Parts: sequence; structure tokens; C-alpha cells
Amino acid sequence: MLNIIICGAPGCGKGTQSDLIVKKYKLKHLSTGDLLRKEIAEKTELGKTAESYISQGQLVPDTMIIDILSKNVDNQEEGSNGIILDGFPRTVAQAEALEVMLKKLNKEITTLIDVKVDEEDLINRLITRGQTSGRSDDNLETIQKRLTVYQTQTAPVNDFYKKLNKYTSVDGMGTIDDIFGRISTVIDSKR
Ligand code: AP5
Ligand code: MG
Repeated sequence: MLNIIICGAPGCGKGTQSDLIVKKYKLKHLSTGDLLRKEIAEKTELGKTAESYISQGQLVPDTMIIDILSKNVDNQEEGSNGIILDGFPRTVAQAEALEVMLKKLNKEITTLIDVKVDEEDLINRLITRGQTSGRSDDNLETIQKRLTVYQTQTAPVNDFYKKLNKYTSVDGMGTIDDIFGRISTVIDSKR
């Protein structure tokens, strides 16, 4: 089984690379951002609460996220070779909860892949996407808040996985194909 976490700052390419990884390695893609945006689109109570945090560039409370994820981790599709977690865990508390969740299911994380991109490029990518995405968090003010939240609350997750010897970083600059090549080399070395 391959259970991979793809991690990195907003706009580093987690979603883009996950789509390619899912196809090549036949993994189930779990993006907490996508799950939350689905709740928002369906105008559920959870979606309404989530939107108030997302539009401010803040993280949704851990309890809400852990709840939504545990429902989806259980529900693993037959025939997949594992999961790719995109945008989760985003706090050390989420990482600890994930470890407990996977242990119960007799599973473990293979590796965390940290996709590294310069801040100027992150901002440019997200501003460009904001012209068409309709995402309430793709504007300069909120992007800057997201980057700060990433540094203070999410970057410590990298140290958590470094201690478990499950941390790999990948250069996330360049073309989508070049980056995917680097990520594939990492995944192939862990199989
Ligand atoms: P989430 O949806 O996870 O957003 P994010 O982390 O801010 O990252 P993005 O989805 O914006 O970027 P990405 O890294 O996926 O890059 P992408 O491939 O799209 O979370 C949104 C919000 O939900 C959070 O702020 C929080 O409020 C909440 N949330 C989610 N999970 C949570 C959790 N676990 N706990 C608490 N709250 C949570 O690429 C970006 C753009 O760049 C695209 O337009 C793409 O086409 C382009 N691009 C990609 N690669 C390249 C390249 N190599 N060169 C040029 N352009 C490229
Ligand atoms: Mg994404």
C-alpha cells in the first residue's frame, strides 16, 4: 500500500500533482479543501461554517476536519493501491489524529512529500487562478494570510514526519511534468 501525504504552501501544486499521481499509481485522492468546497457548493451547515474560515484564509477547526476525513478514510475504494492526502494534516493535532486513525485501520503513512515553491511564484499562481476559480480565498489579501497560516500552523507538521523518518522534500519549481518526474522518483523509491 502507498499512503502518501502531499504537503506544501498554498498554490505549490498539491492538487495538480495529486491528479497525476492518482492516475499513475491508482490511489484514492482525499483533498480536505475539495471536500469543504463541495460542502460549500451544496450549502450544508458544515459548508457555511467552513466558508467563514476559508474566505478569511484561516484553518477550519481541527475537530470539523478530523470528522470529515475519518468518514472518507474508512470509505476506501476497492481496487485502489492506497490514498493520497492533499491539504491534510495541516496542524500537528491533525497529524496525531491521523496516526491514531490509520493505526486502527492497520495502515501507515509511506511518506510525506513537501513540494517547495518560492513565495513570489506561489502568489503569482494563485492570483492568476483567482481570475477564473471563483474561490473566495484567491485574492492577494487572503493569499497572504494563507501563507502566514501555513508557516505558523502547517510547517510544524513537516517536523512531526521528520521525526518519524517519513519526510521528503521535492523542488516544486519548473514545469508540471518536471515536478511530476521528481515526485515519481520519490514514490518509486518507497514502493
Ligand atoms: P486547500 O484547498 O487545501 O488550498 P491550499 O492549500 O491553499 O492550496 P491550493 O488548493 O490553493 O493550491 P494547491 O497546492 O492545491 O495548488 P494547485 O495544484 O491548485 O485549502 C483551502 C482552505 O480550506 C484552507 O485555507 C482552509 O481554510 C481550509 N482547509 C483545507 N484543508 C484543511 C485542513 N486540513 N484543516 C483546516 N482547514 C483546512 O495549483 C495552484 C495553481 O497553480 C493552479 O492554477 C495550477 O494550475 C497552477 N500550477 C500548478 N503547478 C504549476 C506549475 N508547475 N507552474 C505553473 N503553474 C502551476
Ligand atoms: Mg488544492
